[in-house]
Amino acid sequence: MTLPTLPSVQGTDPDRVVLDSFRVAVAEQVAKALRISIGQAYQAVDIGKKGCDFSVPMPRLQPRISDPSLKGLDAKQLVQKVVQEFVPNDYIAHVVAADKFLHFEAKSSTLMRLVLDQIHALSRSAPSSREGYGTNSWGAGKTLVMEFSSPNIAKPFHAGHLRSTIIGTFIANVYEANGWNVVRMNYLGDWGKQFGLLAVGFERYGSREELEKDAIMHLFNVYVSVNADVEREKQIGQGRETSRLADEYFHRMEKGDESALGLWQEFRDLSIKRYKETYQRLNVAFTVYAGESLVSPDGIKRALDTLREKGLLTEKTIEESEVNKSSWKKIVPASDPEADTSSGKKDGQGSEEIKPAWAVDLGSLGKPVLQKPNGTSIYIVRDIAGAIQRYQTYSFDKMIYVVGDQQDLHFKQFFKILGLMGEQFVDRLEHVNFGRVNGMSTRKGKVKFLDDILDAAREAMLTQMEKNPEKASAISHPEVTSDQIGMTAVKVQDMQAKRIISYDFDLNRMTSFEGDTGPYLQYAHVRLCSLERTVAPELVLPSSVSEIDTSLLTEPKARDIVLLLASYPDVVRSSFETREPCTVVKFCFRLSHLISSAWESLIVKGRERELALARLYLYLCARDVLASAMRLLSLVPLEYM
Ligand code: ARG
Repeated sequence: MTLPTLPSVQGTDPDRVVLDSFRVAVAEQVAKALRISIGQAYQAVDIGKKGCDFSVPMPRLQPRISDPSLKGLDAKQLVQKVVQEFVPNDYIAHVVAADKFLHFEAKSSTLMRLVLDQIHALSRSAPSSREGYGTNSWGAGKTLVMEFSSPNIAKPFHAGHLRSTIIGTFIANVYEANGWNVVRMNYLGDWGKQFGLLAVGFERYGSREELEKDAIMHLFNVYVSVNADVEREKQIGQGRETSRLADEYFHRMEKGDESALGLWQEFRDLSIKRYKETYQRLNVAFTVYAGESLVSPDGIKRALDTLREKGLLTEKTIEESEVNKSSWKKIVPASDPEADTSSGKKDGQGSEEIKPAWAVDLGSLGKPVLQKPNGTSIYIVRDIAGAIQRYQTYSFDKMIYVVGDQQDLHFKQFFKILGLMGEQFVDRLEHVNFGRVNGMSTRKGKVKFLDDILDAAREAMLTQMEKNPEKASAISHPEVTSDQIGMTAVKVQDMQAKRIISYDFDLNRMTSFEGDTGPYLQYAHVRLCSLERTVAPELVLPSSVSEIDTSLLTEPKARDIVLLLASYPDVVRSSFETREPCTVVKFCFRLSHLISSAWESLIVKGRERELALARLYLYLCARDVLASAMRLLSLVPLEYM
């Protein structure tokens, strides 16, 4: 097929974004008729809503028109002008006036050919998330530091951490698909007084063997036991021995005492080892395990010095700072009752003498304490110094923190303080937030560990499958399959709506095969895969797909599918701009619905060979695009069920 050559337009990439060719072809016609530049015209070409392929709103272009012969015309007259001068070609077949809009129709045979061939070529040659169909190179050379997940060692992995893990992975994938270089960073809560407490607890309740087996669970149990000791001592009003020992221990850690740090290091290493296993199960990986402990003490000191030099630190009595701590408490996830003992909330020292603390007055954003009387560092200061340290290490173009909306105030304060310190890079920081999950519990009760959630989802999936024994018997590895579909269920439920919306954790609903659920998506993909298996070996795509006669795909349904597939690169771009995974989830559902409504009319099996091949080609391209979109969401598309 030889097509007319198109002018090149900045910001377009027809070799990877097939619709760009058609948009440029529309822009060419509009630019010629209205005597404006092709770049200006291109900006006004939208993908058409129902009923047309592309639309151009004339009011958007009107201010750009300067040609004297056109100056006096109103929007409708300008629309007419374009319609009169329109010359159909191999890209654009038709135009109609719709009030102040122009509606263009792509030439179907060209559309079928170019879209399917591009999908096929890019999916075969570069199936990776970096170069495959849907990706682009607009972000080439730029670096994103992506901080997400960030659980606290020896504390529960709560719903906020799960959402951060799921959404963070998606955003990292999307940046990569837009050409960025991405550093995936897990910022562990691995520092603070609770590690003193943990060390004391380990002497009393710890077991080496248990620690090696499952550090996360064991440290949590030790932590619960030693906290009970603290509470008991408080109740009987004597000693506070445990708390004192913990303080001493953590003090040694902060001083850099190697014997104290040795145990902590072991806790950290073994916890990371255990986390990695679960993250792997979840199809999530990190470039670096950072943590609060790794923020350099020098950096913290420098940050405080800068603030003091700039006259930003004001004295606060300890009573006042207590007030501040209770407002601080609100920004710590509610489901984490022990959160941030490091800020000194549970210091258990009773009547402390009145010493000054240092705070910064941020007006309407409050007055966060930055330095406590006892000198231990504070969460927000670790974030301030940590950001500077990361900028020195990565000189990132962008850094995103994916953390729940309970910490909105914290991030506003922390960014504001960096700005006051004169750090220019603060413009590159962004807090991507999300709403809460209600009722995340399993049959065993409240969730403490990530594996509990995933196990519960797997069990629920197995139950679903057992309800349908016929299907169940066809599943070769029910354990593995139910685990994968279970995780798909959890992830899809999490990414289905705008991030900020809270939702109820509903195992029954999310694991159903009915409705817009993760299992439904997996099923749609499996069905596309099984088509290829059922028609083979009689029907296989030729190695040179140009032999396939795509002009046989004349049904409106086929055209709808192809247009939707063609919009996928735009979906990837727009979810990059909004950081909203739901854009991609919605695309997956639209595609799955469209395909499921096509099975009855676009039949492959038993059809005349040429027609069957063309349809098979269409379905396999749809399969590849669905799989790419699922992978972008960090799902593992299944081939069998
Ligand atoms: N570990 C913290 C928590 O569980 C989340 C850390 C968020 N990231 C940050 N840079 N402050 O609440």
